[in-house]
Amino acid sequence: MKYLGVTKLVVSNASGGVNSDYEVGSVVIIKDHINFFPEHPLRGKNDERFGPRFLNMNEAYNKAMIQKAKVIAVENNITVHDGVYLGLQGPTFETFAEYKMVKILGADCVGMSTVPEVIVARHMGIECFGLSVVTDMGDVEASMEEVSHDEVLKAAAKAEPQVRKLIKELILQF
Ligand code: HPA
Repeated sequence: MKYLGVTKLVVSNASGGVNSDYEVGSVVIIKDHINFFPEHPLRGKNDERFGPRFLNMNEAYNKAMIQKAKVIAVENNITVHDGVYLGLQGPTFETFAEYKMVKILGADCVGMSTVPEVIVARHMGIECFGLSVVTDMGDVEASMEEVSHDEVLKAAAKAEPQVRKLIKELILQF
């Protein structure tokens, strides 16, 4: 992507919410992430053509794009939250104890993607913007057994028009 001339990356994902202000269908602007993947995409010999060995991750998610997305959300009556996304490998959904751990660690939602992609993009100096659709809530023990891939797909589909509008406007305005 970098060599094709891409300078900005927009990523989206589905996640389990652990912030009690969230509900199924909430749209979350990712303001930061916690990398809990067992492997690191930049491990191994560094290719200096792509980026430095020790990469600063202090603005993993581009602040200007986040700000712009928030304005677009207000203008279009789209409710958005901002939050920290924690990446775990999966493919299992989390146990209740794991959702609790995610919350204690300071994240607002958890999923199985995005973190490696953003690390690699940042390595190359690509600016990143991420949106997460909360497709299940991991902070309610009673609802835990209901989490299924079908449920995730349904919740994500419901949020699609808002996410589409937000990303479309962001691309147009940025
Ligand atoms: N956990 C991890 N990944 C997910 C979830 C979840 O609860 N929901 C959608 N993707």
